Amino acid sequence: MAPPPAIPPEYHQREQTFVKHLILRGYLQKVAYNILSAWDDFTFVDGFSGPWEARSEEFSDTSFGIAIKELRVVRETFRDRGKTKNLRCIFVEKDDAAFKRLKGAVTEATDLHARPIHGTFEDNIPEVRRYVSSSFALTFVDPTGWNIDLSRIAPLLKQRGEVLINFMYEHFKRFVEDERPEIRASYDKPFGGLPWRDMIEEQISYGLSKELAILEVFKTAVKKVAGFDYVASARIRHRKLDKSHFYLIYGTRHPKGLEVFRQVERTALSAEESFRIEARDREVSDTGQHGLFEYLPHNAEETASAHWAHEVRQARIRCEIVIARDEAITFEALARHIQQQFSVVLPELKNLLMDMWNEGLIEFEGLTGRQRKPNKGVMIRWTDKLAGRSAR
Ligand SMILES: C[S@@+](CC[C@H](N)C(=O)[O-])C[C@H]1O[C@@H](n2cnc3c(N)ncnc32)[C@H](O)[C@@H]1O
Repeated sequence: MAPPPAIPPEYHQREQTFVKHLILRGYLQKVAYNILSAWDDFTFVDGFSGPWEARSEEFSDTSFGIAIKELRVVRETFRDRGKTKNLRCIFVEKDDAAFKRLKGAVTEATDLHARPIHGTFEDNIPEVRRYVSSSFALTFVDPTGWNIDLSRIAPLLKQRGEVLINFMYEHFKRFVEDERPEIRASYDKPFGGLPWRDMIEEQISYGLSKELAILEVFKTAVKKVAGFDYVASARIRHRKLDKSHFYLIYGTRHPKGLEVFRQVERTALSAEESFRIEARDREVSDTGQHGLFEYLPHNAEETASAHWAHEVRQARIRCEIVIARDEAITFEALARHIQQQFSVVLPELKNLLMDMWNEGLIEFEGLTGRQRKPNKGVMIRWTDKLAGRSAR
């Protein structure tokens, strides 16, 4: 595997933003290309554009700078094939000073249909919807804290398209037990008015940690309030400590999107391990202190592989539970279930199912020709051995 790129200096001290931007860039490239292979229109909506803590003169370390660059590449790819595609982007920013900088950069991109809007994202949803019209939209929701109002942005998210939301878990965790009425009320907004406290308690009663319970309830809110069929998340860790910093939540109505998201996540998070080590080495050489970094591992590739292996093991446990519960399930229904919960790609799911088949726990119905591994259209059925094991 090729070594990951070194972190550009503009991302030093905010390496987790680099990982966030790797996922945004990777997913935007793929989804724009896939959609435009079948349709003529694609819109990128950046609801909380910034610039925010940007250091690059060309805004290469901002979501809007990345979007403009990537969409140009996609447009040129189609143009080289003699196809003209309609790519648009819309950028919303509340802060006056940030908007001024955003507007300057976007206005310079005269070759793209790029539109800056000054104001809050929530207030401008009707305007954004008009601009997006019937095109497919990827919406990026990247607030500075937990101040999103899911119900107010839902009318946009219910249109044709997908969403990536930065779920600032660190902020949620800090406030979630706050009993002050004004804080409690403000928490209703990101959960779209659902009874989130009871829902979190319920998840905890099923055995989930508080962190996973909060995450699960937010994913449910994105599904229910914004009308997505499938919701997955990628965990971005703190740059120094072994704890979560935020999650990128992905909502889609198409199962193929889940596989693409998991592939992009894989590439970005494998790189994350190296970035964390690089950040540590840089800080240790600057300060001469190991301090906060002492728990970081040394071999990035090994720890990344160990992490994915752990995800596969968890996915395998869940597969056994789901197949034993349903007795039979199609490969695609199982894949949708697993990929919403675990960071596994389809070849890994097929391999773990082959392991279960080799152990005599499941059977496949509908394999065709020389096909050995399960795929779309194949029914997975439990055997007496799995039935006996789950009855115990
Ligand atoms: C985390 S920063 C965005 C970073 C940017 N998406 C990126 O990846 O480079 C959040 C931005 O949202 C702006 N903001 C905060 N509340 C907003 C709202 N309700 N509507 C629109 N922008 C808002 C802030 O001023 C800030 O510039």
